[in-house]
Amino acid sequence: MKTNPEKFGVTPHQPSLWTRADALKVRADDPTTTQPLVSADFPVLNNDVFIWDTMPLRDLDGNVTSVDGWSVIFTLTADRHPNDPQYLDEDGNYDILRDWNDRHGRAKMYYWFSRTGKNWEFGGRVMAEGVSPTAREWAGTPILLNDRGEVDLYYTAVTPGATIVKVRGRVVTTEHGVSMVGFEKVKPLFEADGNMYQTEAQNAFWGFRDPWPFRDPKDGKLYMLFEGNVAGERGSHKVGEAEIGNVPPGYEDVGNSRFQTACVGIAVARDADGDDWEMLPPLLTAVGVNDQTERPHFVFQDGKYYLFTISHTFTYADGVTGPDGVYGFVADSLFGPYVPLNGSGLVLGNPSSQPFQTYSHYVMPNGLVTSFIDSVPTDETGTQIRVGGTEAPTVGMKIKGQQTFVVAEYDYGYIPPMLDVTLK
Ligand code: FRU
Repeated sequence: MKTNPEKFGVTPHQPSLWTRADALKVRADDPTTTQPLVSADFPVLNNDVFIWDTMPLRDLDGNVTSVDGWSVIFTLTADRHPNDPQYLDEDGNYDILRDWNDRHGRAKMYYWFSRTGKNWEFGGRVMAEGVSPTAREWAGTPILLNDRGEVDLYYTAVTPGATIVKVRGRVVTTEHGVSMVGFEKVKPLFEADGNMYQTEAQNAFWGFRDPWPFRDPKDGKLYMLFEGNVAGERGSHKVGEAEIGNVPPGYEDVGNSRFQTACVGIAVARDADGDDWEMLPPLLTAVGVNDQTERPHFVFQDGKYYLFTISHTFTYADGVTGPDGVYGFVADSLFGPYVPLNGSGLVLGNPSSQPFQTYSHYVMPNGLVTSFIDSVPTDETGTQIRVGGTEAPTVGMKIKGQQTFVVAEYDYGYIPPMLDVTLK
């Protein structure tokens, strides 16, 4: 690895490993780590659009922030096409599932606002068409910078390529609502380097996205988490003793798990504004365990670093499995070592009877977990489903030491502010 982190005053570190042995401890349907069943009669935020990844406006310390009493969320959003001939089935009925599954290719960043932290009102697109340099506006983080309402939106510009970018604009409030103005100049920050983080040339299925900037509560510096895969040609990774961990006899066979190479990336800012970044080695790797550790984020609590990341059943490696949901790891210092929460890493998974009910969980420092509804079965066999594309009920969770516990359920899309900023 070519990087020289010492020059930014950062101690070099070894990535922590999420091992196959850790993942063998995953238990679906443990009530303390399972999201309550989402009923198929859920309300839909807006019938014209699908929404999925939800990004609450926050400050650099992670606090969900309202402005002049208005809560604000950003969402990945795509139009619904109920009348488009392309999405009609043989009988002329709207094939909503196909429309929903195609959404990633036309994802755009939208915003919503609310006086109550729920029942979100439609704001609109953050950037006008043509501002973002690529076809897809993928997940990231909106940061409220100051009481002038300046916002840095970090996100991923995808297809062609995958570049972590940011665009600065401003949030403006009135008595009647909120608008986002001036998000006009997108600045590319960095891409995968092929040395620490896998590139598209090394693997057509590479992941490099979902920036989450933050100020380290201990050293005060500006860093950023992101999703990556460990660098190297697809198929060249080794799943050795370290990646396997302490498995029982009969569990040594790793199958084709060398193709699963997720990691949580980290970068440090060279400047105070976060315009100039240096990638560092990953904080956490999941080689031989899982291929995606998406939307990584932190909760800083009790002097500890709680690292959360979302993952899927379908991205697990041969011989290990777990539900779609959010996984977590904890360390006493930013660069680890990280140990899996609840022994396995599983923090909040879908129940096995409704494996796709929710996804893209985001754990807030107040213990509330927001997510979106993907699809919920409408019959006993699970062959009939209702597609979501809307906010899921918020879950309340307690984090204690190396364990987490589901303790409450709240309204759909409930994302209350943790602090309010009065704009000057
Ligand atoms: C999570 C995710 C993100 C990505 C976005 C693309 O749901 O896969 O990692 O930015 O969705 O739609």
